[in-house]
Order: sequence, then C-alpha cells, then structure tokens
Amino acid sequence: MLRKRGSLIFCGTVLFVTWNAVLVLLLWGRPPAGEPGQPGREKGEGAGRPPADVVGDMLRMADTFEEELERQKKILVEIQNHQGPPNGRDGPPVLPVLVIACNRVTVRRCVDKLLQHRPSAELHPIIVSQDCGDADTAEVIRSYGSKVTHLKQPDLSDVPVRPEHKKFQGYYKISRHYRWALNQVFRSRAHSAVVIVEDDLEVAPDFFEYFRAVLPLLKSDPSLWCVSAWNDNGREGYVDPGRADLLHRTDFFPGLGWMLLREVWEELEPKWPASFWDDWMRQPEQRRGRACVRPEISRTLTFGRKGVSLGQFYDKYLRYIKLNAEFVPFTELDLSYLKEETYRDAFQRDVYGAPLVKYEDVKQGQLKGTGPFRLQYSSKDSFKVLAKNLGIMDDLKSGVPRTGYRGVVSFISRGRRVYLAPPAGWTKYDPSWS
Ligand code: UD1
Ligand code: MN
Repeated sequence: MLRKRGSLIFCGTVLFVTWNAVLVLLLWGRPPAGEPGQPGREKGEGAGRPPADVVGDMLRMADTFEEELERQKKILVEIQNHQGPPNGRDGPPVLPVLVIACNRVTVRRCVDKLLQHRPSAELHPIIVSQDCGDADTAEVIRSYGSKVTHLKQPDLSDVPVRPEHKKFQGYYKISRHYRWALNQVFRSRAHSAVVIVEDDLEVAPDFFEYFRAVLPLLKSDPSLWCVSAWNDNGREGYVDPGRADLLHRTDFFPGLGWMLLREVWEELEPKWPASFWDDWMRQPEQRRGRACVRPEISRTLTFGRKGVSLGQFYDKYLRYIKLNAEFVPFTELDLSYLKEETYRDAFQRDVYGAPLVKYEDVKQGQLKGTGPFRLQYSSKDSFKVLAKNLGIMDDLKSGVPRTGYRGVVSFISRGRRVYLAPPAGWTKYDPSWS
C-alpha cells in the first residue's frame, strides 16, 4: 500500500517535471519572429501580422498546452488523494461540501454557517458551484477568497424542452447543474464522498459531526444509499426534543443536505434525468430498496421561500421545520443500532408491539401511558386522511410516504411517539399510491 502510493507520487512528479521541461524547450526553440501579441518582435514586414501558419501553430500549441494543464491537474489531484492523512485511508477522510448556487445573494447565509461550523478546512473543503451566471451572486462567492472554491457551470443556454414543459425550465436547469457539479466533485476532483447543500439551506452546529459519524456506516452498508440532514416531519411538536441524538432509517429520499458516495454517483450518472432529479431518485428503479439515514431533528433549515417551485409549500410546511441547536457528539456515540438487520428487527418489534389506538384518542390526547402507540392505515386514502388530520406530510412519492420506513411514519403527537403503520406483514410499497 505504502509502496504503491510512493511510486505513484514519484511517477506523477516525474511526469510533471518532464512535461514542463519539454514545453520550455519547445517554446524557446521557436524562432522569435512573428509571435503574436508581443510588441517589438514584429520588426520589419510592415503589416505586423504574423503569417497564418504561425498563428495556427500557436493556437494548436495553446490548445495542447491547455489540455496538458488539465491532465496535470488531474494527476496532481490523484496524488493528493493518495497521500497519507488527512487525505488517505489512514487519517480521517476528506468530506467536501458542495453548495449548489444560482442567482440568490443569500447564498451568503448558507456559506457563512458552513464556515462557522466546520471543524476543519482541510477535511471539509467547500465547493460552491454556480449556475445562472448572476454577477451579484458571483461577487458574493468571490468575496470568500480562498476559503471556498468557486466553480461556474459553463452552459447557460436554455434546455430544449417540449412546449408543455416550458414552465419547468428551471427544473431542467437544476438537473443539468447537479450532473455537471457532481462530475466536478467525483471525476475532476476525485473525491470519494460529498455532502450536497443548496444555497437556501442553513446548517446546524453539528452538521459536520453528523455526516462524519455516519460516513463509515454509509460506506460499509450497501442497504444504505444516502444520509440526509432533513426530517420532512421535523416541525416543533412533532419531534422528541430530548432526543437530538436519535437517528432513523427511511425509505424516502429526503434530500435537503445529503451525503452521496462516488460509487452511487457512478451508478446514477449515466441515466441522470433531464429534470425533477429528486423525484427521480425516489423511483424504485433508482432506489432499489435502499434506505437513507435521517435525524429525529433536522440539521438543515430552508429559508428559500422564493425558488423554482412556488412558495406555498414553503409557507405551509418547510418554514416550520425546526433546526437542531445543541451539538451532539455523534462521532463518540454508538451508531450500530442503525445497521440494517439490527434496526429492522428492533423497529418491527417496537411498532407492532405497540398498542393499537384510535385516531380520536391520539387527536384528543387521551392516550394512556407513555407510548409508543400504533395507529393503523389500510389504504392510500386512509393514510392521507390520518396524516392530514394529524399534521404530518400526506404526500407519497412512488408509494413511499415522507420519512416512511417499511410503510411506517414515526412522529411525536402530544408528547408521545405514534407510529402511523400499515397492518403487520407489510412486504412492499405500491408505486401507484401518490
Ligand atoms: C426543489 C427542491 C430542491 C430540488 C429541486 C429540483 C425543496 C425544498 N427543494 O427546488 O431540493 O433540487 O426542487 O427538483 O424540496 N438552481 C440552479 N439553476 C437554476 C435554478 C436553481 O442551479 O437555474 C439551484 C438553486 O441555486 C438551488 C437549487 O437549484 O440550490 C434548487 O432551487 P430552488 O430555487 O431553491 O428550488 P426549489 O423549489 O427549492
Ligand atoms: Mn429551495
């Protein structure tokens, strides 16, 4: 391992030095006459315009030079990623944060919080990828200097869409931007994992601690494909305020501050959709039975009322999702309860061992005992009616309710844990429930 790394560094260095030597020789070896843009060198000849073949030569050489620089950059990144701690397998892994930005100067709130809470600049480089070409937003990002890496999505053209989808142009652009930015992270920069946030998210004090702690689990457990900072039902009163340390599995892809591994990106990238990437992730073809980890109390808050989708959803739900305030030392906690079998067995026992109660009892706060309690739904409609009346999200994507795990939505109602659950013996989701 060490020897391989050593030889890679050596080869890279030799290649780098050799190429530069070749370039220097080439450039010096050229006759001085006729080099464009170099005043004083165009003596004689009257017009001062170098012969066309020389210009052509120079352009070709510039192209080669550019390509070569790009190649060298990749090699250097490779070398960097193969060096010992903090980049190698021996030390804590590097986990960059990718900020998806467009035309909102309020990206400052997002980046300020990331910088405020990140425990280490080396371990958590911040990459802000900007779409849309907005100058004011670019200026805000630029103002952070070397504290963040500023990437610009180069294709600002409209995405060709069929006429009925004209109004969804924004979703097409978001999707295109995600693909480009994630390729930058995983291909050009050769990172092995990333945390993605959008420019209208504010992160909690233990945001980094949370992702660092769950990363080993994500890497070792193929039944997981993401870790998210978001609880879709995380409103005040619907979460257990005394359990900021509690984490769950969910079959619903929450997004909104989430961690992705390179392997999963390589699987998704070739079929990445032209639009609505998040709902596409929620389809069974992509999810393939895998779950995400999500917290009891959200580690992100969204302040983006004005966005690509309308603000109604924001005013009705999103703005009330509570952001965790206290720091939980996740890396020091035992998270083995999240392992697939362990979690599933305990969950099953907990949910189906809980007494079955009636909606009225929950609603009127007449539950006896400390809980948890189970409330049963048996159809799409009964799920929706119960969810709506209890104040939890009632929509389903590809048949999966928000925060759902094996059909069950776990939340707090009047201080007690309630499981909104299908009858025992659940086997699979019905994608026609929407
Ligand atoms: C909603 C989702 C968002 C998802 C998006 C795509 C919520 C609260 N938000 O976006 O997570 O990514 O649908 O399905 O559920 N952006 C660009 N290029 C553009 C326009 C926007 O890169 O042309 C970026 C924004 O900077 C932002 C992200 O895309 O980071 C989402 O845009 P936003 O306007 O916040 O849309 P939402 O309706 O929140
Ligand atoms: Mn948004």
